[in-house]
Amino acid sequence: MDLGLTDRTVLVTGASGDIGREAARAFAAEGARVALGYAHHRETAARLVAELGAERAVAVRYDLTDPGSVAPALSIVERRFGPVEVYVAAGIAPPAWPVQSTAFEEVPVDDWVPFLRGNVEQTLRTVQLVLPGMRRHGWGRITFVSTHLVRQGRPGRGFYTAAKAALHGLSRSLAWDAGGDGVLVNVVCPGLTVAGRAGAVPEAVLSEEAGRTPSGRLSRPADIARAVVFVSSAANGNITGEVLTVAGGR
Ligand SMILES: NC(=O)c1ccc[n+]([C@@H]2O[C@H](COP(=O)([O-])OP(=O)(O)OC[C@H]3O[C@@H](n4cnc5c(N)ncnc54)[C@H](OP(=O)(O)O)[C@@H]3O)[C@@H](O)[C@H]2O)c1
Repeated sequence: MDLGLTDRTVLVTGASGDIGREAARAFAAEGARVALGYAHHRETAARLVAELGAERAVAVRYDLTDPGSVAPALSIVERRFGPVEVYVAAGIAPPAWPVQSTAFEEVPVDDWVPFLRGNVEQTLRTVQLVLPGMRRHGWGRITFVSTHLVRQGRPGRGFYTAAKAALHGLSRSLAWDAGGDGVLVNVVCPGLTVAGRAGAVPEAVLSEEAGRTPSGRLSRPADIARAVVFVSSAANGNITGEVLTVAGGR
């Protein structure tokens, strides 16, 4: 199946992380030009540029806690590869383990306000900056990476799921706002995914979680990446405002 991604300009934020990295690799394998957003791990992004080839990939600093980093990142991408046609937000998550044990009402405001603001406001701002170019081209794809915990909930994850759930609402409304201009907007929800972050989760917890899925296994970053690439491609002709869960059927 032709995914129609050859020479498309793709921005993957969180590309220095497990899922974003696999998504970037999968887009590059489809012939796309990929901008790799990193926040703290420049070397990881630089290694990925070397792997994918400098003619196909560029690393850009994109930090959700620094509003000033969004516009410069986008202008680097635009100068190098042209306007962003596909925007994938594979942003921040709290550490997978241990799960925060502080009572909800005792989580300091200074912890949750920047987390919520960064995730929601900077993502909105990024959409505002990439959408005009997509409308002009009459084609675009926006994909938010969320978490299946938005549906399931989990103790100690209230601020994380609140931030991610905001992107579900944004996706539904944006699907209406931009659909007539050929821009499709979706959410991909991974379940617990076996990779670096999940590597810190005790083996017993991982196998218990895997045992709760119909497929009998947890997802891997490549499973999530394939779903992200499909909904963000031209092979996705008319799926928009949807939530695609990749969690082994859980
Ligand atoms: N892994 C799972 O089990 C799982 C399950 C459900 C949902 N998800 C979702 O999938 C997405 C990716 O998860 P992952 O497992 O790939 O995470 P990860 O390996 O921990 O990577 C997180 C990514 O977010 C970036 N990041 C951190 N702070 C940032 C900031 N202030 N601004 C912008 N980017 C920042 C990191 O960049 P630097 O490394 O450069 O700081 C890194 O690229 C997250 O949105 C997460 O909620 C993951």
